[in-house]
Order: sequence, then C-alpha cells, then structure tokens
Amino acid sequence: MLISGRGSNLHALIEAARKPSSPFSIVFVVADREAHGCQIAEKAGIPTQIVAYEKRGKKEAEQEIDRMLGERAVEIVCLAGFKRLLSPWFVERWRRRILNIHPSLLPQLRGLATHRRALAEGHRQHGCSVHIVTEKLDAGEILGQEKLSVKKDESPESLEARVLALEHQLYPRVLADYAGSLVCGTGREGGA
Ligand code: GRF
Repeated sequence: MLISGRGSNLHALIEAARKPSSPFSIVFVVADREAHGCQIAEKAGIPTQIVAYEKRGKKEAEQEIDRMLGERAVEIVCLAGFKRLLSPWFVERWRRRILNIHPSLLPQLRGLATHRRALAEGHRQHGCSVHIVTEKLDAGEILGQEKLSVKKDESPESLEARVLALEHQLYPRVLADYAGSLVCGTGREGGA
C-alpha cells in the first residue's frame, strides 16, 4: 500500500485481511513521508518503508518504490491518501494493478476538497469510490461506490467523517472482489 498520513483505510484493510476467508493480505506499506499509518502497519507486523521524494526526486523515488514492490511480490498496489501523482511509466508498469480510494461519487468531484465542494455545489448525494488508477487524475474505471444523503446544515467535517466510515466498508469489499477476480495463474493470494 502507498500512504501519506493517517492510515485509517490501511487499518480497515489490515483488519479485513485478518479474516481467514480474505483473498488478499497486506504485505508492505510505503509512505512518502513520516506517516501515522506506518505505526499502524508496524503494530500489525507489516514492513514499512519511507521513500522521501524530496531527497531523491520523483523519478528515483518511484523507481525505488517499483523495485521494493517487485521484491515483495506485490500484486496489487492500493493507494489510500497517497499525496503524490504517479508518473505515466509507473502507471503503465502496474496497469490495472493500482487502486485508489477517492472521497466522492466519481466522476463527480475529482481532485481535492471534495466535501467542501459537494456542499458548496449543493449535492444531495455524496460518497466515495474505489477506482483503477490511470494517467488521468481520479478518472480510471470505477470498481465500487458507497453513497449517503447529505443532511441539512451538514459541515465539511461531519460529511468527511460520515464518508470516511463508508470508505472503511467499501475498500475492503472492492479489494476482496478485485483480488479474487485476478487470474494469478499460480493460485496465490493477492498481496497488496
Ligand atoms: C481518505 O479520505 C481517502 O479517500 C483520501 O485520503 C484520505 C485518506 O485517509 N484519498 P486515511 O489516511 O486512509 O485515513
């Protein structure tokens, strides 16, 4: 998994992976900075690595990430709050193997500040999406969504909290379906 911060989706995926019936396991966590999520992973016995983009530059950082994912036989790369855009070469190398969770009902509200924008634009429905990562921001195939109705007098903060609770349901469900559907050939479980 690739993260940058809090790691609540990482936590939800780790918990889901503990179930004996889970078709995926979380095998490795990379952060682009000091991230609380790394502590969550370490507590669960999952190796973590910080790859500092500033020190090496984007290309080298991505090459390092690519190498480490390969070494650990990762099959699916899950992004959760990873605050970097992946370069086209990286996306090409992992084509249809990178998933992201986004806090809106895509294709609506691509990009940042989705909860504030949903309220400002008067959306009655809001939610979250898991999609395949492509070269275009938040534009790849949508694999699953969870919706809620926006309440009257809702704040961006309350909306964020309610959507986040949905994210924690959605990501494990979609990843399980996706990992289960991948034809691995080897019969191995999907390592993310
Ligand atoms: C989530 O809201 C996710 O949708 C967005 O970034 C946030 C990450 O939260 N892409 P966390 O680090 O998983 O708690």
